[in-house]
Amino acid sequence: MLLLSIETSCDETAAAVVRGGREILSSVVSSQIAIHAEYGGVVPEIASRKHLESITPVIKEALHIAEVGMDAFDGVAVTRGPGLSGALLVGFSAAKSIAAALRIPLIGVHHIEGHIFAGFLEKPVAFPFLALVVSGGHTHLYYVEGFGQYSTLGRTIDDAAGEAYDKSAKIMGMPYPGGAVIDKMAQSGNPDAVKLPRPLLHDGTLNFSFSGLKTAVLQYVMKNPVIIPGKAANDLCASFQNAVCDVLTAKTEAAIRQTGAERLVVAGGVACNSGLRSVMSLLSDKLGVELYIPSPSLCGDNAAMIAVPGDYYLSQGIVSPNTLDVTATWNMDSIKEMF
Ligand code: KG4
Ligand code: ZN
Repeated sequence: MLLLSIETSCDETAAAVVRGGREILSSVVSSQIAIHAEYGGVVPEIASRKHLESITPVIKEALHIAEVGMDAFDGVAVTRGPGLSGALLVGFSAAKSIAAALRIPLIGVHHIEGHIFAGFLEKPVAFPFLALVVSGGHTHLYYVEGFGQYSTLGRTIDDAAGEAYDKSAKIMGMPYPGGAVIDKMAQSGNPDAVKLPRPLLHDGTLNFSFSGLKTAVLQYVMKNPVIIPGKAANDLCASFQNAVCDVLTAKTEAAIRQTGAERLVVAGGVACNSGLRSVMSLLSDKLGVELYIPSPSLCGDNAAMIAVPGDYYLSQGIVSPNTLDVTATWNMDSIKEMF
């Protein structure tokens, strides 16, 4: 089946043409980062307006690159939630209109499902597997037994890992979003230079907490001026990254031991992180589990990833009614209600 997929949950307007939930014919991502950087974070109202401006050209470009016409599609998969309501509405309304005009099915997909299955566009993973999803809004451990079959094992109780990266970067005076910048500077720093906390490391749960780590960075910066570029900044970035990676590794290891999972998927924007990719690789060697981390271009928000669950659901006849609406919050465990 050939799907048009659309993603507008945050600050990327994205459309893709994907065949069989596997083959990307085109994947266009128009980022609004430069606009939001001025404000130090995503401004929801501006995001909606930019999505509105970009959605039609982005879809047109996806069709042009894939060399297909609108009549080629078997369905339209679109991010239904979670995310910014106004932003979601733009992509969702576009998808609904296209599906209605072409009389083809609409498939509303959970954004995190898209992240979990993004790697399937490169190599499918056998079920069951453990998924660590680390993005700007999520830090979750899921046990995945199939499409739509997710058990939440642990989650952040405050900030997400990406959020902690972005907020710490802001504290250090870097532009939004600072995750990739911290990662780059960390590579030239000493990871043991600054003593930072590892929240919830030994609490016996699979939950995460990153807001204390961000506060520790703030307290450090207030006492020790950190000039960018410079050794002190590199050291703080490396120490911060080390603390995040320590916690993510410890909890992932505990989840693998608890579930007996033989395969591990790491997904979401923070899965681009070089430190995380290397500690997860060491962990997989240590525990003898197979590790799957998508290429960086598939870790961040994109529409191709939405087509993977979309194609599966369509193949099972699971489609969304045209009366469906977006949802800013959506628990992964309740996806079962779709069946
Ligand atoms: O998945 P994503 O594109 O959007 C959400 O669904 O949130 O993730 C964006 C997050 C941002 O917080 C960004 O700073 C972070 O991923 N990120 C990184 C890196 N690249 C992106 N964090 C750490 N290291 C990176 N290399
Ligand atoms: Zn995302």
